[in-house]
Amino acid sequence: MQQKILIGLVLTLIIVIFIPLYWAAEPGRQEAARERQQAEAVEREARPYMPQKEGSFRVEVSLNGFNNTPGEFRLEVEGGQEVEITFVYGDYDLPVNNPHIIAIPDLGITPFILDQNNPEFTVSFTAPKVGEVTVFSFMCTQTACAGHNNLLGGIIVIQPSQQEAARERQQAEATEVGQAIFEQSCKSCHSIGGGRIVGPDLKGVVERRERDWLVRFIVSPDKLIAQGDPIAKQLVEQYGTPMPNMGLSEQEAEQALAYIEAQSGEPQSSPSPE
Ligand code: HEC
Repeated sequence: MQQKILIGLVLTLIIVIFIPLYWAAEPGRQEAARERQQAEAVEREARPYMPQKEGSFRVEVSLNGFNNTPGEFRLEVEGGQEVEITFVYGDYDLPVNNPHIIAIPDLGITPFILDQNNPEFTVSFTAPKVGEVTVFSFMCTQTACAGHNNLLGGIIVIQPSQQEAARERQQAEATEVGQAIFEQSCKSCHSIGGGRIVGPDLKGVVERRERDWLVRFIVSPDKLIAQGDPIAKQLVEQYGTPMPNMGLSEQEAEQALAYIEAQSGEPQSSPSPE
C-alpha cells in the first residue's frame, strides 16, 4: 500500500516538475539546432571542392546537386592552369532515366547530355587569366525536372600571381614617387649610404627604427623635438641642429621611406651617387 503511494508521488513529481521543465527548455534546444544547421551551411559554403589531382576534378551530377551539394557548388583553380573536369551521371537510384544537360557557356563548352546511356563526359580547358577572381557558372539547362535548381555550379579562377604583381607594382610606384621626394626635400642634408651630411646617413634607418616613429618624425620633426621625444632629443644633441619640418604628408613620408628602404638594400653604387 505504502509502496503504491510512493510510486504515485514520484509519478506526480515527474508530471508536475520535470515535464514542464523539459518543455520550457525546448525553445533553447530548437535555437541550438538552428544555429548548428546554420554553422554547417556556412562551412559548406566556404569549402570549395578540392581536386584529387592538381586541376583534375570528378563531379557527380544528380538531383541532389553537384557532388551532393545542394545549391551553389564551386571548384577552385588557378589562372593559366590546365583543368580537366569529368562530369559523372549520379541518378541511378531513380526509377527512370533522368537526363541532365550541362553547359559552361562562358568557357565555350556547349551543352552535353549525361544520363544512363552517357554516364560520363570530360571537358578540358586552360583556366583563363583574366580578373583577379572570376567565376564561370555551369548549370543544368534541363528544366523539366524538379531539383534542377540544385544544379548550379561555378569554377572560381584565382590569380595569386596577379595579386603578387599588383603589390610589387604598388611598391615600385611608391619608391619612384619617394625618390622624387627624397631628391627634392631630403638630399641636401641626408645621404643613403654616402655618410653624414647635415643629418645622419639614412641607410638602414628603416631597420633601426620603428616605422611608425619614422613617419611621425618625418612629418613633423619639430613637434617630436618640442615634445621631448627621447630619440629626437638625442639626435639633435648628436647632430647639433634640429631637422626642419619639410611639410610632408604621412603618405609622402611613407613613400620617402619606401625609397630609402629600397636604396638601403642595394649595393653602395646607387643610381644617383652623391
Ligand atoms: C635641413 C636639413 C635636413 C633636411 C632637409 C632633412 N633632414 Fe632629416 N635630419 C636632419 C638632422 C640635422 C637630423 C638629426 C637631428 C634631428 O633628429 O632633428 C635629421 C634626422 C632625420 C631622421 C632620423 C634619423 C635616425 O637616425 O633616426 C630621419 C629618418 C630623417 N631625418 C629623414 C628625413 C627625410 C625623409 C627628409 C626629407 C623629407 C629629411 N630628413 C630632410 C636634417 C635634415
